Amino acid sequence: MARILVTGGAGYIGSNTVYLLRRHGHEVTVVDDLSRGHEHNIAGGSFHRLNLADTGGLERVLREGRFDGVIHFAAYIAVGESTQKPELYFANNVGGSISLFTAMQRAGVSKLVFSSTAAVYGTPERVPITEDFPFAPVSPYGESKVMVERILGWLDLYRGLRSVSLRYFNACGAVPGSGLGEEHDPETHLIPLVLRAIKTGKPITVFGDDYETHDGTCIRDYIHVGDLAEAHILAIEALLKGAPTDQFNCGTGRGRTVMEVIRAAEEVTGRKVPYVVGERRAGDPPVLVANSDKLRQRLGWKPQYCEISEIAATAWEFERAREPVPAA
Ligand code: UFG
Repeated sequence: MARILVTGGAGYIGSNTVYLLRRHGHEVTVVDDLSRGHEHNIAGGSFHRLNLADTGGLERVLREGRFDGVIHFAAYIAVGESTQKPELYFANNVGGSISLFTAMQRAGVSKLVFSSTAAVYGTPERVPITEDFPFAPVSPYGESKVMVERILGWLDLYRGLRSVSLRYFNACGAVPGSGLGEEHDPETHLIPLVLRAIKTGKPITVFGDDYETHDGTCIRDYIHVGDLAEAHILAIEALLKGAPTDQFNCGTGRGRTVMEVIRAAEEVTGRKVPYVVGERRAGDPPVLVANSDKLRQRLGWKPQYCEISEIAATAWEFERAREPVPAA
């Protein structure tokens, strides 16, 4: 059993990680300012409503809880919004992280798992992507995560802060029985939008069908949120056993097109997905697929879900429980 502080524990991936950490027997405390997350998603443990800019408040929480480690999710995540409000993204994602690392240093907590992203690679020249691909972000969001990863490199060297950065590909799905699911506001992610289109009858827009892929739509590596949460638990446990600072891609290694996701949703729900084809969305790389061999080999990660239809089925269960679906 370890004592873990989770920042952003009211968000999508954070709340699932809290839920599974507690099932693994760890003691969890959540820090979240609820600016984007939801209080009803805090899956037990104690909770402090706090913004990361409050270094003193974080330091008090860290000292009182005598934590073994921190899992740091709290950040803004919308790529499009980050192009409209870059200052906000750098202040919150980079400034907030520096405040947290300062509080950790003062409180003597020296193990951290950091929520990074495939967006650090921008538009890669080829796939699958390994961790040694260069940083080449194409949005302030991606750049904010690069900056924090770089800061963590220096803090490893000069402060003895040991960290694991997990670079997520497309997190999706729901952990059965958890009551937790994807509830971003506004929602921008493909799978919940596809399922809501089925529910409401309002068509989703497919962003471009003229990419150089087998059906012309973008390819992504969809990873189940429960498998992603397990990667965080393996990472913090490895750090607590003395593992060094490192970075890992988190994906299944399988790429699926937007149309394949739509077909999988139709198969799982038995309903048609209403959609229209629109323009390409600015900044969308055509293909993003992870090579996650390092995560499997070094941390012993084994994803439970590899099929997009199985993942979509868990997301559909959540959507149905959240709001009953009218008969077709
Ligand atoms: N898509 C549509 N229509 C929609 C929404 C999405 O066609 O209404 C397409 C996108 O163009 C993309 C795919 O569905 O090809 C997945 O889009 P998402 O918005 O669900 O996810 P992204 O791949 O854009 O974003 C993810 C993470 C980000 C991360 C980014 C890296 O959510 O945090 O990958 O590129 F920054």
